Formats: sequence, structure tokens, C-alpha cells
Amino acid sequence: MQQDFWLQCWQQNQLGWQQDDAHPLLRADPSDWLNSSPVFVPLCGKSPDLLFLAQQAPVVGAELSEIACRDFFAENQLQATLNQSDVFVCYETEAIRLWQGDFFALRPEQVAECRRIYDRAALIALPAPMRRDYVRQLRALMPAADMLLLSLEYPVAEKNGPPFSVPVEEISELFGFAQVTLLQQRDLTGQGFARRRFETSSLIETCWRIRW
Ligand SMILES: C[S@@+](CC[C@H](N)C(=O)[O-])C[C@H]1O[C@@H](n2cnc3c(N)ncnc32)[C@H](O)[C@@H]1O
Repeated sequence: MQQDFWLQCWQQNQLGWQQDDAHPLLRADPSDWLNSSPVFVPLCGKSPDLLFLAQQAPVVGAELSEIACRDFFAENQLQATLNQSDVFVCYETEAIRLWQGDFFALRPEQVAECRRIYDRAALIALPAPMRRDYVRQLRALMPAADMLLLSLEYPVAEKNGPPFSVPVEEISELFGFAQVTLLQQRDLTGQGFARRRFETSSLIETCWRIRW
């Protein structure tokens, strides 16, 4: 999706993907992925997962929208310092640093301390050609990583993204260079996705651990 699309969603407060609480699969930690090492959260929005993760480890996020970054700290009563750093604005507290700007312009030194990645509604926010670029950029940013990925699968003929359906075969192909394990699936059919209604005949959330 183009940046304007997302910026408009934030301006119009159309945040169908927003969770009220940390994701249940993250809280359940299906594969002991949680630990105290710094974690990178691409396309992080103002997700409550950031706060949950920050209770155990330093968190570095990347988010395009100024509204998202500003609201994240304000809504959680956190006082962040702001610094302009070339094309990014850096919001920082002791535990959480958000790079506000384009994920695709991020440089390795901005996530240098991170060996883990948490992706909820980032890969699935992007259309197919951008998903390739997204994975390429993750690899460029982090030569070694331990990633927890939450993805979504539904019949593509029944709905346009975002969120996009990213089937098992595509995950295997996109991360062909890595060790990929399907940890868990949740059947969300009829339940919607966060605040969004979903009329598709099936809706499956998949949880992956991906290491390279
Ligand atoms: C579907 S939302 C998911 C947000 C968050 N991961 C969550 O679970 O609530 C996708 C987010 O990606 C952000 N985004 C889209 N393109 C981006 C880019 N090129 N760089 C940084 N953030 C981007 C959007 O502003 C939006 O907040």
C-alpha cells in the first residue's frame, strides 16, 4: 500500500486493525520466544503489543505515522523525548524507541541491538510485491534474527486487502532462506479481525517462528 493510504487511515482514525490488549498468541508465547533481548517491531502502529513486549525487553519500533507515535506515548502516559535524525523522528523512553518514518528507509544501525522481530499485521498489511521488499529489507537490517510472525489466510476471491491473505506456501517461499516453523493456527471465521468485520467463508490466523 502507498504511504498516503496509511497516513489517511490515521488522520481519519480508521484503525480497524487496532487491538484493545496485547495479542493472545503473544501473551501465550507459544514457543518460548519471549525473552529479555531487544526486539524490533516493524510497522508497529500504536499497538498494545509494544507495551507488553517492553515489560520484558527493550523495544525498537518503526512506524510511518506521526499520529500513531504521538498517540502511543500519550495514551499510555509515557513521556518520550523527540529527536529529528535525517528523515526520521526518534521517539524515545527508557524501554521503547520508535523510529517515525519509512520502514524501507531504515538503516541497520537503527536496529543494531535487535536480534528478534515481532510482526503482527505488518507483512499482511502489504500487497504481494511489497511483501517481497519487506522481507528483503528485514534481512538487510538484521543479518540474523528470530522472528515471531502472525499472519492471516482467507479465500482471496472473497475480499480485497489490507489485511491481505498470505498463505502457507507464500510464507515458505518468502522466507526460503530461513528456518520456518508453523507454531499455531486460530480459526477466526465469523469473529472478524480486531475491530474489523470479515465476511469471508474462512479466516485463519497463523503464528510462525522464523529464524535466520
Ligand atoms: C495494519 S497496521 C498494523 C499496526 C501494528 N502492527 C498493529 O498490530 O497494530 C500497519 C501499520 O504500518 C504502518 N506503515 C505502513 N507502511 C509503512 C512504512 N513504509 N513504514 C513504516 N510504517 C508503515 C501504518 O501506518 C500502520 O500503522
